[in-house]
Amino acid sequence: MEIGRPSRTAMAVAQARAYHQLADEPRVFTDPFAIPIVGESALEKGDFDLGLDPDLVRRRRLLIAARSRFADDTVAAAIAKGTRQVVVLGAGLDTCAYRNTHPDVRFFEVDHPDTQQWKRHRLAEAGIAVPPTLTFVPVDFETSTLTEGLAAAGFDRTCVTVFLLLGVVMYLTRPSIADTWLYIAGQGSGSVLVMDYLYPVARASSQSMDERAKRVAAVGEPWLSSFTADEVRGALVSSGFAEVEDCSAAVLLSRYLGGTVTGPMNSAIVRATVA
Ligand SMILES: C[S@@+](CC[C@H](N)C(=O)[O-])C[C@H]1O[C@@H](n2cnc3c(N)ncnc32)[C@H](O)[C@@H]1O
Repeated sequence: MEIGRPSRTAMAVAQARAYHQLADEPRVFTDPFAIPIVGESALEKGDFDLGLDPDLVRRRRLLIAARSRFADDTVAAAIAKGTRQVVVLGAGLDTCAYRNTHPDVRFFEVDHPDTQQWKRHRLAEAGIAVPPTLTFVPVDFETSTLTEGLAAAGFDRTCVTVFLLLGVVMYLTRPSIADTWLYIAGQGSGSVLVMDYLYPVARASSQSMDERAKRVAAVGEPWLSSFTADEVRGALVSSGFAEVEDCSAAVLLSRYLGGTVTGPMNSAIVRATVA
């Protein structure tokens, strides 16, 4: 992340969710705020996709939609079982906190201060009200700690909580990812982490992926970390997680779209539960 500038990749994934509302049938993920939060004009740009293989662009869009659906389903199931706190880490233009219908469920959006400030402007411009259940927590994962940021925001360290970490770990260094996992593993037993990650092969596996890697690096957000499934499982278990459900991107998409989307996919999503 470049100092003083909001995340450009946050806008790119929000545009993908917005375009998904219009372009894809069946829709994997429904979000009434997806288009307003990017603004109608932003829908047309999609800078990161220009000139890339249209199949890859579509797969990526469906994956971004599917990971949000997976997160929504996890949050809904946890709330049904009594969870009353949700933390959206590296929230970008994510809107789950604005779609929350439970007045007793608290949401915390943690993000880089520059991105968070920009989001607050975007919300105001779009006329999306900030619900009283939401607290903004500005934290740079590389220079400050979740412990300090969330404590200052009134987060309850003893409550069972869902943590969402979508489209973020690839942009962080391994030490700050490890600190984040340890922090979450110290939350109440039964707390859940949902996180996606890139496989190490991602950059070299296709020209289009390599081109995308170059584009995110060019806007100051290079991919810094990738993992094998075994590495993620091992690191999560040694951090203090018990159950680790790892789902490759291909499996995730076939869960929602029944095997209709094929082609190289170089990421996975994990749902891990604190022991
Ligand atoms: C690709 S966006 C994903 C946003 C959101 N989770 C989503 O799925 O729409 C990456 C997010 O990670 C955040 N991020 C990247 N580096 C960060 C850092 N060092 N500290 C805090 N947030 C960071 C960015 O501000 C941005 O919101």
